[in-house]
Amino acid sequence: MKIKNICCIGAGYVGGPTMAVIAQKCPNINVTVVDLNEARITAWNNPDFEKLPVYEPGLDEVVKEARGRNLFFSTDVDKAIEEAEMIFISVNTPTKMYGAGKGMAADLKYIELCARQIARVAKSDKIVVEKSTLPVRTAEAIKSILDNTGNGVNFQILSNPEFLAEGTAVTDLHNPDRVLIGGNNAEAIQSLVEVYAHWVAKDKILTTNVWSSELSKLTANAFLAQRVSSINAISELCEKTEADVNEVAKAIGMDSRIGSKFLKASVGFGGSCFQKDILNLVYIAKSYGLNEVADYWEQVVIMNDHQKHRFSKNIVQTLYNTVSGKRIAMLGWAFKKDTNDTRESAAITVAQDLIAEQAKVVVYDPKVSENQIKFDLEQDHDNEIIEVGTNPYEVCKKAHAIAILTEWDEFKTYDWQKIYDSMSKPAFVFDGRNLLDKQKMKEIGFVYSAVGS
Ligand code: NAD
Ligand code: UDX
Repeated sequence: MKIKNICCIGAGYVGGPTMAVIAQKCPNINVTVVDLNEARITAWNNPDFEKLPVYEPGLDEVVKEARGRNLFFSTDVDKAIEEAEMIFISVNTPTKMYGAGKGMAADLKYIELCARQIARVAKSDKIVVEKSTLPVRTAEAIKSILDNTGNGVNFQILSNPEFLAEGTAVTDLHNPDRVLIGGNNAEAIQSLVEVYAHWVAKDKILTTNVWSSELSKLTANAFLAQRVSSINAISELCEKTEADVNEVAKAIGMDSRIGSKFLKASVGFGGSCFQKDILNLVYIAKSYGLNEVADYWEQVVIMNDHQKHRFSKNIVQTLYNTVSGKRIAMLGWAFKKDTNDTRESAAITVAQDLIAEQAKVVVYDPKVSENQIKFDLEQDHDNEIIEVGTNPYEVCKKAHAIAILTEWDEFKTYDWQKIYDSMSKPAFVFDGRNLLDKQKMKEIGFVYSAVGS
């Protein structure tokens, strides 16, 4: 089928950037991104490109090029479904917070709602593409809903998981390591291959069966997260033995079998994907009775929780076993640099731990709003337990300690002497990202410690 109209349900961190790039690279295809969330759609249509709902370097340029030409954002879901030959489902699949599988399984209610809506509205044949990350064999459920509640039209289901990382979404989409398409209908697969072939080399477009494709996404995230937990486990050992985790990471990363990427010790991984997807994998393994497999992967999340709490515990212990009433400046709130996304950010856990110890926490992040930070802490305005600042120098003033939670480049460029002079003494810095120059910080007079060194 030649694709002329694409609809994407879900205008979030994946749907927005992914569809913007498809529209940019395929000017002959109309791409309509729809969402139930009116505020989000309004923000995608904002004439001020700096105010798009997702912050990603380079995204404003892509949207500027395509929006209004062949890229549209709308709340009219039915219309977009009706007009499209190909429908991407890119809605959220969070961890289920109720019933069976609570705290582990993926909550597929939004996926099911989409399937039912597509079935109800579609009056012509459609290719339905799973873009969301889904448990292996979800396509079976989607197919059953479509075929049993539809209007007799033909549906083909493809799995096309997204591998972009936030903060580098646009470059990842422009130059993907691979595009993965799973399906069991050659013609449907070919239709999607042709969309990507507008800008992705054919040898990077991998086609598999549906189940391999679904499972590859969970597996890729599990492997990536496992590397972070592995190096973080070693970081704790480094702190006890005077080995330096940066040196260890470099030494092992030069082994081409290991590779140098994703070996940065940190305060713990965050983001909306890693924990959710591993827990989902654990749940799937358990549901097949594969308890050893489940336990093996669960350890990645257990290690990550340990790393986050270990970081806050170290702050308390170093500050003479009490932070009660002490001002602790937190630099960074996003789960990584170059994004305004805070989902599962290690900063949230660390702040909660410090607040529980009655610290006076003050936060600065270059891209995250005060409202978001307070929302993350479920804080109402009558009960202001933390302060959020817009000037990092003010935030650090009179602080007993600074904790670096996100690796924003701008933190490296600060006048650290000026910050030191304004702080309570001794002036502690806890670098959760190994971001600053240890030697220089010590020369200024800071009591400086970084994860794993
Ligand atoms: P998100 O929460 O940012 O966006 C999802 C959007 O879907 C929301 O705006 C929501 O309003 C909308 N939505 C939900 N149900 C809807 C419905 N029935 N009709 C219309 N709109 C509906 O989520 P996200 O980060 O974009 O993730 C989407 C999927 O992609 C998830 O499965 C996630 O695991 C996967 N994924 C995410 C990333 C990432 O970096 N964030 C990367 C790869 C894959
Ligand atoms: C991840 C996957 O990388 C991506 O392929 C998938 O599509 C979605 O999930 P994302 O969560 O956006 O992407 O960012 P990523 O760069 O993977 O970082 C995840 C977390 O791990 C961040 O908190 C990051 O700071 C942390 N991390 C990453 C480390 O602590 N050390 C590292 O070496 C790498």
